[in-house]
Amino acid sequence: MYTLGEFVIENSSHSTEALLRLFSSIKLASKAIHKEVNKAGLTEKIIGNSGITNVQGENQKKLDDFAHRAFIESFKSRNVVCGIASEESENFIVIQKKQENDFKNQYIVLIDPLDGSSNIDVNVSIGTIFSVYIRKSPIQMNLTIEDFLQKGNQQILAGYIIYGSSTILVYSTGNGVHGFTLDPSVGTFYLSHYNLHFPKKEKIYSINEGNYAKFSDGIRKFIRYCQEKKENRPYTARYIGSLVGDFHRNMIQGGIYIYPKTASYPEGKLRLLYECNPMSFLAEQAGGKASDGKKRILDIEPTRLHQRTPFICGPTGLVSKLEEFMIYCE
Ligand code: AHG
Ligand code: MN
Ligand code: MN
Repeated sequence: MYTLGEFVIENSSHSTEALLRLFSSIKLASKAIHKEVNKAGLTEKIIGNSGITNVQGENQKKLDDFAHRAFIESFKSRNVVCGIASEESENFIVIQKKQENDFKNQYIVLIDPLDGSSNIDVNVSIGTIFSVYIRKSPIQMNLTIEDFLQKGNQQILAGYIIYGSSTILVYSTGNGVHGFTLDPSVGTFYLSHYNLHFPKKEKIYSINEGNYAKFSDGIRKFIRYCQEKKENRPYTARYIGSLVGDFHRNMIQGGIYIYPKTASYPEGKLRLLYECNPMSFLAEQAGGKASDGKKRILDIEPTRLHQRTPFICGPTGLVSKLEEFMIYCE
């Protein structure tokens, strides 16, 4: 059985040593989070709010803060990342090289350390989402915001960790999507999902239908299309409220995820750089499609670190179908 490390060595097209260092940081932080999540019911340290309102204006949970700090510390210690942008930090964070002759720190990481925060306290799947680029500015210069505001199509690595009934790390470097399940007794991620693809037959739609009254006509008509008794429909509705969990299930079972703009979130709710771009990269690698309703997510030119976008992601035919509804009805 392949471990994640062995698989990276045999399958990476980028610098293997750098990728191994990167994954080493990601694995370390995710194992620390896995451990905390698994004892969440037993300790006040993890359940509840931290008392801080984050840059999104949302209540930060204790685990949001724990996960953010776990990833920053882990990236700092591995000497391969030069800058991090996190949902939990208003500005980007610069990581100084420890010594001048150290390994070239050229990677930029954008991260949602804890996705699905509202599910932490109720024992439902949560996740981490990460996206990696190569810095644009010369290595001897200071980082600039442009190093972080790169289009999604420039990603060299994207992935997520789902802390569910088991903890699974899923990633792509542009060579398929592969999943590795943590064996907690050994502390090792083993290859469990090789070359994931959306199945041919779709059966699920995932959208927060509680917002129905706030949706546009195109979205409402698409929901009715999913519910019609025709061809292989109706589809079943599944919505966890953790993007990672909803995406993971949809990629394995065949489903579309939709977070459109609403009256409350006129630009959409999900964040382009550390939620939608990495998930779109994975969706395309899994034979699917990701769109804001009109254009490809990965071609959007970012202008702000915490920018939001409407997000539609899933099997190609179904995403295109929704785009048609949006063009004709809006
Ligand atoms: P986060 O916990 O990182 O802020 O992300 C929450 C996101 C996403 O995971 C999920 O799909 C969506 O918010 C759910 O939003 P609603 O509760 O509005 O449906
Ligand atoms: Mn999130
Ligand atoms: Mn989050």
